[in-house]
Amino acid sequence: MEKNIQELKKIPNHLGIIIDGNGRWAKKRGLTRSMGHKAGFGTLEKILKECFYTYNIPVVSIYAFSTENWNRPKDEVDYLMETFRKYLNQEFKNDYPEVKLNVLGDIDGLPEDIAINCKKLIEETKNGTKYTLNMAVNYSSQDELVHAYNQMIEEGVTKVDRETIANHLYTKGQPPLDFVIRTSGEQRLSNFMLWQAAYAEFYFPKVYWPAFTKNHLHKALLEYQSRDRRFGAIKG
Ligand code: IPE
Ligand code: IPE
Ligand code: MG
Repeated sequence: MEKNIQELKKIPNHLGIIIDGNGRWAKKRGLTRSMGHKAGFGTLEKILKECFYTYNIPVVSIYAFSTENWNRPKDEVDYLMETFRKYLNQEFKNDYPEVKLNVLGDIDGLPEDIAINCKKLIEETKNGTKYTLNMAVNYSSQDELVHAYNQMIEEGVTKVDRETIANHLYTKGQPPLDFVIRTSGEQRLSNFMLWQAAYAEFYFPKVYWPAFTKNHLHKALLEYQSRDRRFGAIKG
């Protein structure tokens, strides 16, 4: 398929990607699951650059590690942490110019050096006004809501509305999710952005994440453009 950027007239303001299928991709090749994650991070770098610098998508959210993922074998979790350690470091700023990094999830529940690095990068990239990257690491959408409510209680809030809740989430000030891509064929949210995805469109390509290419992304964005979003109203 020849990519034609011009044919994309409607680009999501906020794209979510649930990375899935790293383990199965590796298994199919007789590799360890960790090797699947290694390949998956290569895909992530390539696709993120495409999202920001080719398609100009302002906000991209990546589901990279859930609070439930701690239940995986120790060597796999260790490998993933090592990958975050390498990915979320000083090179990030050179690799992703004009990108503001936002880490969604319980940062303090990560190994201490990664938590320190994350906080440093968040501070150092905060003036990136063109693009935002939400990296969901040690993330649970249900915990995010619990955290938001506890914060509101601490602040003495006695009445909440949608705006109050939205303003206490990790995505404060950001547009809601327009489009969610989950690779590998699984069709579920697995605790990802339950609030933010209220009116999102969903797309479930069968391809495992390490094999997801720029062409798959283009096809996904074409699919998004063809969706008829009504938000509960009748189409005029
Ligand atoms: C997604 O791939 C990456 C993470 C959840 C960290 P998986 O590791 O879930 O791969 P499968 O689903 O087992 O194939
Ligand atoms: C969801 O993928 C979490 C991330 C993508 C980080 P999982 O592979 O962990 O989800 P389930 O277990 O298939 O629901
Ligand atoms: Mg999976």
